[in-house]
Amino acid sequence: MLVLLVAVVSAVVAEKSAVDLSRLPDGFLMGTATSAYQTEGAWNEDGKGESIWDNLVHRNPNYSVDCSNGDVAADSYHKYRRDVAMLKELGVDVYRFSVSWPRIMPTGDPTEINDRGVAHYDALINLLLENGITPMVTMYHWDLPQRLQDLGGWANPIMAYYFEEYANVLFTKFGDRVKWWVTINEPEHIAAGYEPALSLYVPSVAPGLPGHPGVGSYLAAHTMLLAHGRAYRLYNTTFRHRQHGRLGLALSAVHIQPASDAPEDVAAARRLFQFQVGWFAHPVYSAEGDYPPVMRERIDCRSRMEGRWRSRLPSFSEHERRMLTVPDIFVPIGSADFIGVNEYTSSLGRSNESAGDAGASMDLNPQWPTAAAKWLQVVPWGFREILNTLAKEYPGYPIFVTENGYADLGGLNDTDRIHYIVSYMSEMLKAIYVDKVPVIGYTYWSLMDSYEWDNGYRIKFGLYSVDFKHSDRKRRPKQSARVIAAIIKRKRLPQWLNMTAESIGKSLG
Ligand code: BGC
Repeated sequence: MLVLLVAVVSAVVAEKSAVDLSRLPDGFLMGTATSAYQTEGAWNEDGKGESIWDNLVHRNPNYSVDCSNGDVAADSYHKYRRDVAMLKELGVDVYRFSVSWPRIMPTGDPTEINDRGVAHYDALINLLLENGITPMVTMYHWDLPQRLQDLGGWANPIMAYYFEEYANVLFTKFGDRVKWWVTINEPEHIAAGYEPALSLYVPSVAPGLPGHPGVGSYLAAHTMLLAHGRAYRLYNTTFRHRQHGRLGLALSAVHIQPASDAPEDVAAARRLFQFQVGWFAHPVYSAEGDYPPVMRERIDCRSRMEGRWRSRLPSFSEHERRMLTVPDIFVPIGSADFIGVNEYTSSLGRSNESAGDAGASMDLNPQWPTAAAKWLQVVPWGFREILNTLAKEYPGYPIFVTENGYADLGGLNDTDRIHYIVSYMSEMLKAIYVDKVPVIGYTYWSLMDSYEWDNGYRIKFGLYSVDFKHSDRKRRPKQSARVIAAIIKRKRLPQWLNMTAESIGKSLG
C-alpha cells in the first residue's frame, strides 16, 4: 500500500514538474515583422530619395514575376495607423520594421536629413509605444540610397563610414524610444546583389550587378561587417549608457541536412553552414573573430590556384578584427547583444567540388512539403536543429527569431500557414525547454502581404491580406491572424500539433 502511495505521489510530482512544451516562456517577446521597401510605398514622396530597389525595378520592369514593384506596395507610409491597429488586434509585444535609409537621408549623405522622413518614423514609433508595442528597428533591409550605389555601394569600403553616420542619425533621432536595433538584415542576400544569382536560396537582388563572380559578394560582405562593427562601437561609446538598447544582425539561416550518411556529405553540410551563416556570424559572434577557418582555407587556396596574388576573401586588419570581437565593458565577446535569425526552411547539403568555393550544393528534398515559394520547404524540426547549431557555435548570446513565415497564393482561410506556425513554434519551444537554447523572441514574417521581391505580389506571407488591386489597400485578417492573437493572449500554443491543416481548418470553423 505504501509502495503504491509513493508511486502515485511521485507520478503526480513528476507530472507537475514536467515542462509544459506548449507554453511560451515568461517574458518571451512575440510579434511580427515587415520591411520598408516591401510595405511603405510612397517611393518618391515627401523628399524621399531613390533607393537601389526603386532603381532596379524601374530600370527593369520585368524583374518581378508579375512585373510589379514597390512604388505603392501596401501603402504603409500612409496607412501606418491601420498597421498599428492590426498589431494591437494581434496583441503583439514587439513590431519589427525597417527604416528606409533614403527616406531620411535622400542621398545617403549625412549633411542632408529629410525632416519629413524623420517625422514619419517618429509618428510610427510614438504610436507603437502609445499602444504598448515595443519597436524593433532594422536599420538596413536592402534599400541603399542609389547615390551611394553610384559610389560602388557595399563593394566600396567607404560605405562602412556612411553606415556609421546613418546609424548615428538613427540613434540620435529615435534611440530615446527604440531599444532594439537590427543593424543589417540578411547580409548574405545583400551580398548576392554583387554576383550573378547564387542559388535557389539566394536569388538575384538589387543592385543586380553582374559583378565578378566569387569577388563582389565577398567585398560587399566585408564592408557590411565593418559597417555593423562601426555602428555597434558607436552605440557603445556614445549612446548605450543613456539609451540602454540592444543591437544584433539578422542572419539568414537555412538548416542544412546532409544528403546522405557519407562522410563527404556530412562535411559538406557543415561547410555550407559556415559559408552561409558563419560568413557573417564568425567575425561578429565567435571569440576568435575573423571568417570561419574553412572559408579562409578554401578561398585562399582556390584564389592561389586561379593565379591570383591575393585571396578573393578580404582580410581584416588586426584593428578591424578587434573592433568586431574584442570584449568591452558592455559585452563579454563580439560586437552584438543578440543573434537575430531568419529561418524558413531546410535543405539537403551534398558534396560537390564543382559547386563554388564551398564545394557543396544545397538541394531541395522532394520528400519535404513545399509552399508557394519553391525554396520554402516545410521542415519544422530543421528549425530546432538550426537554433541548436547557433547556440553551440556561438554560445553566450540570446537568440531572437527575427523572421519565420509561410508563403501561399492567398486566401483568408490559410490553414497551411497556421499549421506551419504552430509546428515551427512547437519545435522552437522544444529547443528552448529541452535543449536549453536561449531563444528570447519571435517575430512572424509578415504582418501583412507585401512586395515579395522577385516574386512580386504573387506569393503571400501575411497574417493580413492586402487588396493590391485597389488604391485603398484594404487589409483583412486571415485565420492565421486569429491563431497568432490566441497564442499571444493565452501564452501557449494550441493543441493542434498532430492535426492536419484541414482538420485545423474545421476546428476553426
Ligand atoms: C527577407 C524578407 C523576405 C522573406 C521571404 C527574407 O529573406 O528578409 O524580406 O520577404 O525572406 O522571402
